[in-house]
Amino acid sequence: MLVLGLETSCDETGAAIVDDTGRVLADVVQSQVVHTEFGGIVPELASRDHLKNGGPVLHQALALANVSLADIDGIAVTCRPGLSGALLVGVQLARGLAWASEKPVVGVDHLVGHLLAVFLSYPDLAPADPPKLPFVALLASGGHTALYRVDGFELSAVRELGATRDDAAGEAFDKVAKALGLGYPGGPVVDRLAKEGNPDAIPLARPMSGKHTLEFSFSGIKTSVARWVEAHGRPGDDQTLRDVCASFQRRVVDTLVKKLVLAARQERVETVVIAGGVAANRELRERAHAAATKAGLRLVVPPFRACTDNAAMIAFAGLTRLQRGEDDSDTLSVSPKTALATVTRKGSGRRAG
Ligand code: KG4
Ligand code: ZN
Repeated sequence: MLVLGLETSCDETGAAIVDDTGRVLADVVQSQVVHTEFGGIVPELASRDHLKNGGPVLHQALALANVSLADIDGIAVTCRPGLSGALLVGVQLARGLAWASEKPVVGVDHLVGHLLAVFLSYPDLAPADPPKLPFVALLASGGHTALYRVDGFELSAVRELGATRDDAAGEAFDKVAKALGLGYPGGPVVDRLAKEGNPDAIPLARPMSGKHTLEFSFSGIKTSVARWVEAHGRPGDDQTLRDVCASFQRRVVDTLVKKLVLAARQERVETVVIAGGVAANRELRERAHAAATKAGLRLVVPPFRACTDNAAMIAFAGLTRLQRGEDDSDTLSVSPKTALATVTRKGSGRRAG
C-alpha cells in the first residue's frame, strides 16, 4: 500500500510518499521564508505560500518516488490542529486529488503525526527500531508541548497526561532567539550556540520543575531572558551569547527530561519517545538518552528530519487509518484544535481545549 501525505498546518508545505512498512519513498518539505522578517508566522502569508507551493511540492514527491497518482492507494492530509487557512489549502488539494483519482482520503491530527514519526524508516539511514506499545511520548514543538500515553495508533488510544500552561517549548526557543536578535526559527541557532556555552553562567528562572506535576510552563524562563537582555543589553561578545543560550537551553531540557521520566514511571511503561521540532535538539536527545538509561527505560527518537514538520509522518498516521478501512471523503473538515483527549489522574477523559 502506498500513501500520499500532505502537510500544510503551519509554515511548511510538505508532500511525502510512504509504504505500508513506514518506509519513506519521498519526503519533500518547502519551508516558508516569508515569515523571517516578522519574527513569527503571519497566517495570511502562510496560506498564500501553501497555495503557491502545494502543486510543485506534490509533483516533486511523486517524481522522487518514481510513481504517479494512479499508483497511490490513499491520501492523508493534516486537518487539525493548525492555522485554519493553511489547513484548508492542504485539505482542498487532498480532496481534489482524491476525487480525481477515485482514492480514499483521511484527515490526520498533526500531533498524532508527530507521535508516530518514530515508526518511519528512510532508505539512506540505518533501519529504524520502532518502539513497542505502550509508550510515553514527550511532544515538544513550536505550537505544543505535552506528554502523551500511546497505547495504539487510533485517536482514542492516545491520551494527554500533562501539557504546558502557557508557551510551548519551541515557542520559548523562538522568543528567546528573537530577544537575542538571532532570527526565526530560534531552536536550531540556540542549539548550535549553546553547544559552546556555559549552562551555569547566567542565573535564569527554572521552568516549573516541581517534582509531581506533568504540566509545563515556559513563559517564566522566556521573561527571565528578556529581563536579562533589558538589564545587560544584547550580548556584545560571542561567549556571553553562547552562555545565555546554554543557560536557557539547559533549564528547558532539564524540565522536559525530568517530566518524561516521571510520566513513564507513573504510567509504568518501559519505552519513552521524544517527538516534535524540539526533539531535534542535540542536548535534549543526549540528556533524554542518559536519563532513560539510568531509569531502565528504552528511548526511541525519530531521525532529525522526522522531528520537524513533514508530510511523511502524516502519511504514516493516515496509513494506519486507511488500513482500518476508514475514508473521510464526505466528511473532511479542518479545525484549529487537536482532537486528542486529555486524561485526569483518576482516568476520566476530557477533551483538550
Ligand atoms: O514540529 P515543528 O516543526 O512545528 C510545529 O508543529 O510547531 O516545530 C518547530 C519548532 C520551532 O519552535 C523551532 O524553533 C523548534 O521546533 N526547533 C528546535 C530545534 N529545531 C527546531 N528547538 C530546539 N532545538 C532545535 N534543534
Ligand atoms: Zn508540528
